[in-house]
Amino acid sequence: MTSQTLTDSLPYLDPALPIAARVADLLDRMTVEEKVGQMLQLDARDDLDDHVLRRTVGSILHTSPERLIRANELTAQTRLRIPLLVGEDCIHGHSFWPGATIYPTQLGMAASWDAELVEKVARATAVEVAATGIHWTFSPVLCIARDLRWGRVDETFGEDPFLIGELASAMVRGYQGEGLDDPTAILATAKHFAGYSETQGGRDASEADISRRKLRSWFLPPFERVAREGCRTFMLGYQTTDGVPITVNDWLLSDVLRGEWGYTGTLITDWDNVGRMVWEQQVQPDYTHAAAAAVKAGNDMVMTTPGFYEGALDAVARGMLSSSDFDAAVARILTLKFELGLFEDPRLPQDGLDAVVGSAAHADLNLEVARRSLVLLENDGTLPLSPVAPLSVAVVGPLADDAQTQLGDWAGGSGQAGWLDGQPREMITTVLDGLAGVDGWAVTHARGADILTLEEDPRGATFPDGQPRPPVVVPADRDDALIAEAVAAASASDVVVAVVGDRIELVGEGRSTATLELIGGQNALLDALIATGKPVVVVLLASKPLVLPASVSQAAAVIWAANPGMQGGRALAEIVTGAVEPSGRLPISFARHVGQQPTYYNQIRGQHGDRYADLTQSPAWAFGQGLSYSTVSYSDLTVSSGPLSVGDAVVGEVTVTNTGSRPVRETVQVYVRDEVTSVSWTDRELKAYRQVDLAPGESARVRVEVPVAECSIVDAAGVRRVEPGEFALLVGPDSREQSLLSAAFTVA
Ligand code: NOJ
Repeated sequence: MTSQTLTDSLPYLDPALPIAARVADLLDRMTVEEKVGQMLQLDARDDLDDHVLRRTVGSILHTSPERLIRANELTAQTRLRIPLLVGEDCIHGHSFWPGATIYPTQLGMAASWDAELVEKVARATAVEVAATGIHWTFSPVLCIARDLRWGRVDETFGEDPFLIGELASAMVRGYQGEGLDDPTAILATAKHFAGYSETQGGRDASEADISRRKLRSWFLPPFERVAREGCRTFMLGYQTTDGVPITVNDWLLSDVLRGEWGYTGTLITDWDNVGRMVWEQQVQPDYTHAAAAAVKAGNDMVMTTPGFYEGALDAVARGMLSSSDFDAAVARILTLKFELGLFEDPRLPQDGLDAVVGSAAHADLNLEVARRSLVLLENDGTLPLSPVAPLSVAVVGPLADDAQTQLGDWAGGSGQAGWLDGQPREMITTVLDGLAGVDGWAVTHARGADILTLEEDPRGATFPDGQPRPPVVVPADRDDALIAEAVAAASASDVVVAVVGDRIELVGEGRSTATLELIGGQNALLDALIATGKPVVVVLLASKPLVLPASVSQAAAVIWAANPGMQGGRALAEIVTGAVEPSGRLPISFARHVGQQPTYYNQIRGQHGDRYADLTQSPAWAFGQGLSYSTVSYSDLTVSSGPLSVGDAVVGEVTVTNTGSRPVRETVQVYVRDEVTSVSWTDRELKAYRQVDLAPGESARVRVEVPVAECSIVDAAGVRRVEPGEFALLVGPDSREQSLLSAAFTVA
């Protein structure tokens, strides 16, 4: 050891000192190489020794349980013994931990419209994640899903900025708990800042052709909300906008995020954003320039660009950067580590993990979220099926018993982690398992169709950065023998439950789809099942809204299940038998045809006509829709009288009545229309909602409130403001014009 040999008496190791003093002391001791290393987060599946001992990385991600322990042993051998921040994509549960609780995807959870429930999921996830030695989750996703072809729709909370803001802030609260010194708290990440989802043709990470005004209107508000609520980290998207990669977008990072919003949290790039500027976007000649640009733009943590290390040091050698240019970023990273208390306790995996990870209490919570995530889209009265009458049920379809597919992307079987091949089968209740478990039912099963096969991409199995290139999907042909078997099962049954949808190979990064139709033999299967004349309950187990074949208009019922997580099959069985009332509402609109894209409800007013020559423009099912087993009526909407000013709230009251014979959880949705705006604007926007439980025949007078300050638009100069004039408060069960009661109010 050198003269810099450390003892526990060094100031930065003294927990009694204020964090700022510890950071300053440590920063002072760091060489430029150590500072550059501290800004790096590298993939723990690669050469860990090199990452930790040579590059002195500040963080790792994608760590198997074993490598997590190894990484910490290595850290203890480094000169300053700075603990690692360990990050992972724990985005609907502790995705890649064997035996962890995997919940419905974010999009599935969004269908609950229940921020409190989502907060509980995030809290329970944090408890599992923190216990396993991981400090940082790359969740939640705040992207607005507007093109259903995009492969990452499932990771979002859907299409509406207000709903996204509500659910994302709940999730952030859940992850971060009472504060970072709470041993069950983990860092949350708001991603992907900003506009990443605004793809070209749904193609992942393509240029986002989006104006600053449009960003300010819809894409930034959810991020601003979580920034103000203390989300500790932000991840920057892959895309360029106006030609500028977000990683070096000065306006977005400095003027808006750090400036206007006063954000003091930590930024992390997305995967190899710095390298992509060189080899993919080709806006930097080499890693030296790319690293210098990234540092100058204010990035803190650089995810998986190993060449950042050499590039940044070369930039220093060439006078493009100085050692102090790294200080702000390194100080922010060190501050997180001190706040988490990692210098005193690196928070390694705890003993007794089995009691925490995948616990029975978390399974109960998971079941509740799964129930709430299911959306009943159509029902001719066939549902609920009587659980007492002995029924024979044919459970048909390629996804009826596909446990890992049911979990969706970012789960044990989705390919991002090499150390596990799916989550334990016994923890997962498939739809077949769930229905076979109903007492007194005779359940048969037939697959009925295949979905796809895979071929290696002729350009090779990896991208230039070594990342795996997704194989090419080849849709399966219809298989008449499989269909015949399914039809025989259907014909011999009282009712058919057909489980169709998408598979992981059609979901995720770099896996956008050109079509929204069911792939492979699935349409032919549905056509044949419906032709039997038996009541067919279609369960769409699909990561995102898909287009169903015309024959489904004759189905008895349609349920969208998203990827409903480990308890999905149980929840589905409870809904189908009426043990639980369906209450999910769409967080995103369903198209009738891929060519209708986009179908989101809050589009800008003004176009010639309102349909295509060959098709309506109306979606198959719109944002906010979802049925119950009861019927609900809305009446007598009243609104605050007299002109309001910006400091006021507009208060509405509406009578909501359960007019049917079963209990209902109704989501009362509140939209605002600004009648005349200085620039074109959307016709209505969700501004509030309330969930009410009503017994059969029960009525409630529901009070809703919207701050007038929220009745704003972004004007031509890009300034958000309330424009005085006439408005309408629109209240009802979903976003469609015909579903909403309207009451006028005036802002003076
Ligand atoms: C790339 C994805 O875009 C991002 O969402 C994720 O957090 C990182 N990879 C790390 O896995």
